[in-house]
Amino acid sequence: MKPDPAAAPATKLPPGHIPATPLSALAPMQDVTDLAFMRVIAHYGAPDYFFTEFFRVHAQSQPEKHILRSIDENTTGRPIFAQMIGEDITHLVRTATALLQHPVAGIDLNLGCPAPKVYKKNVGGGLLREPGKIDEILGALRACVPGLFTVKMRIGFDDTVNFDRILASVNHHRVDLLSVHGRTVKEMYRSEVHYDAIGHAVSQVRCPVLANGNIVSAARAATVLNDTRAAGVMIGRHAIRNPWIFRQCREAFGENPAAIFRPTLGDVREYIERLYRATSVPGLLERLHVNKMKKYLNFVGQGVDPAGAFLHDMRRTESEAALFEVCDRHLLADPTREFAAEPYPGVIARPNCETPSGLADGCSLETIVA
Ligand SMILES: Cc1cc2nc3c(=O)[nH]c(=O)nc-3n(C[C@H](O)[C@H](O)[C@H](O)COP(=O)(O)O)c2cc1C
Repeated sequence: MKPDPAAAPATKLPPGHIPATPLSALAPMQDVTDLAFMRVIAHYGAPDYFFTEFFRVHAQSQPEKHILRSIDENTTGRPIFAQMIGEDITHLVRTATALLQHPVAGIDLNLGCPAPKVYKKNVGGGLLREPGKIDEILGALRACVPGLFTVKMRIGFDDTVNFDRILASVNHHRVDLLSVHGRTVKEMYRSEVHYDAIGHAVSQVRCPVLANGNIVSAARAATVLNDTRAAGVMIGRHAIRNPWIFRQCREAFGENPAAIFRPTLGDVREYIERLYRATSVPGLLERLHVNKMKKYLNFVGQGVDPAGAFLHDMRRTESEAALFEVCDRHLLADPTREFAAEPYPGVIARPNCETPSGLADGCSLETIVA
């Protein structure tokens, strides 16, 4: 690494909704954060930033058309960063250059995906074993991205031995924004999140840091921000469960701390219907559409009832009519009852992304609808 000690981030990040309050971002989630889902999230209160699911980069790859749609047809009113996963520098540079022809806020590099199928190819979280290679990649991408270049990482592969070296590369190559999921690759989604490690990253890098991992509510976001001093939060699974979470964060961060919006089960019923309509694609078989919905509802169900009865019944449906009958029975019997602000303890979004068998970050449609 050539010394470049005075280098500071070159380009300003797009402003958040409310100046001088912590930032929020929807975490990239493969097969989840597509155009339809981002539009639904924006309806309930968009985060400051969106990230695409990852574009796979290798010798034969071309940016996936369905992911490009989430950039080209972004009507959320908020900036979107295009995320790439790969390890071949020539093709990462080629892909970043191609993605910059689209209306992206910046280019993001995935250094966190823990799925064995992915890390065994030495991409995503696999790269965390090779800080020298990461330094080369960051250098090449920094040189070809004139605007914002961002990184999303876990804190290590099976330990944090390379963490400081990678954070030094983040500084050296003037990365503009760093999102840190506070777990190692080997910890998958099982362990507690090491917020102290996120705090350490905040103390080491010059760019703003987004804290990520198990931010289940606006209250938890405020605690994590206080503990880590991060510039903002990145939220994934808990935005699927609770699409109001970014609005609630803004209220908690200062817009209206006295009146944080509290959705009811009736509101959740409306969210499910909106999601069903948004994810409807001409020609999609009803059974497959219902299965796709189960992927989201596995998370939503964590806030419906403490016994997991909604989840139990929802998972057994096979048609639109049966799915909405279950929704009506569980959500409209007492529609003014509050939707839990945090998941009920012990109600698991099966599969809970703790299975190592999934495709991307431990989750796949197949496992989710099993
Ligand atoms: C279904 C699913 C797909 C994911 N896909 C990606 C991805 O494409 N890129 C990425 O950087 N992280 C991906 N992740 C990881 C999330 O961005 C996030 O780091 C992780 O879920 C922890 O945040 P959370 O506790 O708020 O969900 C995925 C996670 C899930 C659950």
